[in-house]
Amino acid sequence: MKIKILGSSAGGGLPQFNCNCDNCKGYRAGKPSIRRRTQSSITISEDGENWVLFNTSPDILEQIHNSPFLHPQQRRETKIKAIVFIDAQIDHTTGLLMLREGCPHEVYCTKEVHEELNTSFPLFTMLTHWDGGGTHYHEVATDGTSFEIPVMPNYSFKAVPLISNAPPYSKYRDKPRAGDNIGMVVINKQTGKRLFYLPGLGVLQQAIIDEMRIADVLLVDGTLWTNDEMIQNGFSSKLGTDMGHVPLSGEGGLIETLDTLEKPRKILIHINNTNPILDETTQEYRELIRHNIEISYDGMHIEI
Ligand code: MLT
Ligand code: MN
Ligand code: ZN
Repeated sequence: MKIKILGSSAGGGLPQFNCNCDNCKGYRAGKPSIRRRTQSSITISEDGENWVLFNTSPDILEQIHNSPFLHPQQRRETKIKAIVFIDAQIDHTTGLLMLREGCPHEVYCTKEVHEELNTSFPLFTMLTHWDGGGTHYHEVATDGTSFEIPVMPNYSFKAVPLISNAPPYSKYRDKPRAGDNIGMVVINKQTGKRLFYLPGLGVLQQAIIDEMRIADVLLVDGTLWTNDEMIQNGFSSKLGTDMGHVPLSGEGGLIETLDTLEKPRKILIHINNTNPILDETTQEYRELIRHNIEISYDGMHIEI
């Protein structure tokens, strides 16, 4: 399986348009230890020709432009043959509007996400007005049933329901349902190799840790270093856990759990621009590296 990181940052990207935190400021000032990062998305492929996209970030056009393997070779063509949504958050869905010329899209999501994207943030409904009739919906079950996507015949896909949060605009905000947030396991049916992708993780439940333990590659939520990072910086009144993101450091943090896992390659994704690990000169960055945890970056290629 070929895995490409299209966007490694959380909502807002780095630099975020209205942010002058140390990282955003440092990047604008040309500090070489800080990278530009677009918003949360990956794409995977079996043959390197046909791609399954996870999430459509607001930065999707730039991400496609920066990824020659996604460029059309026919007069009209998209290499993106299926789109999987792991939630209905703005940073994971808005870019679908930018792909409207390519309707209809084959979309895979839970019925809860499908509801949001037809009601409170009606991207799917809006796109029915474009040529090709919008989207073809494939319901993703949350009961552990696996499914297949035709362009990756040697792989099976399985949703893992997890606790994070429903989007800020949702009537289910702060009372998320199973199915509002999922992680996705992709398994090679011949080799048994597993990718576990979970960019939004609020609670470290045992079932999630068990699934992490058997993965070969883990792409996991690295939004914040400390739970009160946004409050301390004066950017928000919300804790990371209020937003549905478990912090990396400290007691009960993600690093503590990752330290107990032997098998997977551990890679962080969906990293907020305020997170000190995004500047390679910080002690937090060095601490992360000491724990054998990697930070994904836009354009990163992973193969399993
Ligand atoms: C999140 O990850 O919590 C959301 O994407 C926040 C947002 O709407 O930007
Ligand atoms: Mn997000
Ligand atoms: Zn910032």
